[in-house]
Amino acid sequence: MATVSGDWIKKLPLDSQIEIYENIVRKDYTQVELAKIQSELKDEFSKHTEQGRRTDLEDGTSAKNFAEVKRVSDMVGGIFGESGRTVEKRVSVYKQAKENPDDYGDLLERMEESVHSAHRELKRRKDIAEREEKLKDAPELKNLILGDCLEKIEEIPDDSIHLLLTDPPYGTNTVTGARFETEKLREDWTYDGDDESVYPLLNRLFEKMKPKLVKDAHIYIFTSWKAWHRLYPIVDEFFEVKNWLVYLHYMATAGDLYRYRTAASSIMFASNGGKRPIGSHKWNFIDERGTYRKDGMAHHPAQKSISICKKLIENSTVEGETVLDPFCGSGSTLVAAEELGRNWIGIEKERRWYDVAKSRILEARN
Ligand SMILES: C[S@@+](CC[C@H](N)C(=O)[O-])C[C@H]1O[C@@H](n2cnc3c(N)ncnc32)[C@H](O)[C@@H]1O
Repeated sequence: MATVSGDWIKKLPLDSQIEIYENIVRKDYTQVELAKIQSELKDEFSKHTEQGRRTDLEDGTSAKNFAEVKRVSDMVGGIFGESGRTVEKRVSVYKQAKENPDDYGDLLERMEESVHSAHRELKRRKDIAEREEKLKDAPELKNLILGDCLEKIEEIPDDSIHLLLTDPPYGTNTVTGARFETEKLREDWTYDGDDESVYPLLNRLFEKMKPKLVKDAHIYIFTSWKAWHRLYPIVDEFFEVKNWLVYLHYMATAGDLYRYRTAASSIMFASNGGKRPIGSHKWNFIDERGTYRKDGMAHHPAQKSISICKKLIENSTVEGETVLDPFCGSGSTLVAAEELGRNWIGIEKERRWYDVAKSRILEARN
């Protein structure tokens, strides 16, 4: 078996190199072996393409732009019968693990199981590290709490919350895959939550939360038609379910011949009792077309728009009252409350989303 990194190959024109590599590629490399080979090939091919560009460009810039990097990865991928993106992911995990074994070394083992999963984990850790670095000197936000809401809810004083506005983690079964607008977004996010554990959690949470709410507090829970029948009896046990709200967001979901495309989602509206007004003539239909594109899902896979959070907060509270979101994710509810002059309390158990929420709130304050 010839080795793919033989120097004699590198002296040949690029086309001949690729042809030779295609003929000698073994099928039984480990992922780490493959990463090493592909990394060397990428470096080697980059030299050719950079040289090519340098002569192409009159100003002599060695433009190593995205298209070029991608083209090199595609060339390498072509040799091994896979996409350039897979090559980029494998090489990126490999390089990071070698450069920083304490933080990423274990990912090499994970890569033997799945390149995509190792890369996803790499991105998650890098994201956390970057945000921690950015927030190093940021002030503490005492009402943004990192931890499990079931425990942390106990720190909240009784009769202090005027509005519970939240978006619990129902799990992937209630979020259609198409909501992740691109394959890339889907791969880059990690988002846990599963259908079976969330309902008992909500049951215990609402029980602990009831005394924290003022007597006429309102409750809005983002949900889905798939979760509604399971959520209803749990909310109904502690509060009075008053309405089903529908908001039209017009996400570009992929339809098919067998199901309707999703353009709307549901919110459960409930009350802790009493007669808190929501303002006159409010429909149970909220038109949010446009805001989802603008607000997007740049921060969290289940991100809600600040615009819809603001509408609900404005309907159910006045300035100075307090909004609670025990599953605050990237902090959309809290940013909306902040911008409307409401007090807020947010709880998030994952450091990654907690940091995102913190930086969004600090941005909103500037
Ligand atoms: C549906 S997402 C909320 C997204 C949010 N609406 C936004 O706009 O970013 C639910 C969040 O709850 C968090 N979470 C799940 N279980 C939790 C728990 N027991 N305590 C606190 N947070 C939890 C998840 O990490 C996730 O970020």
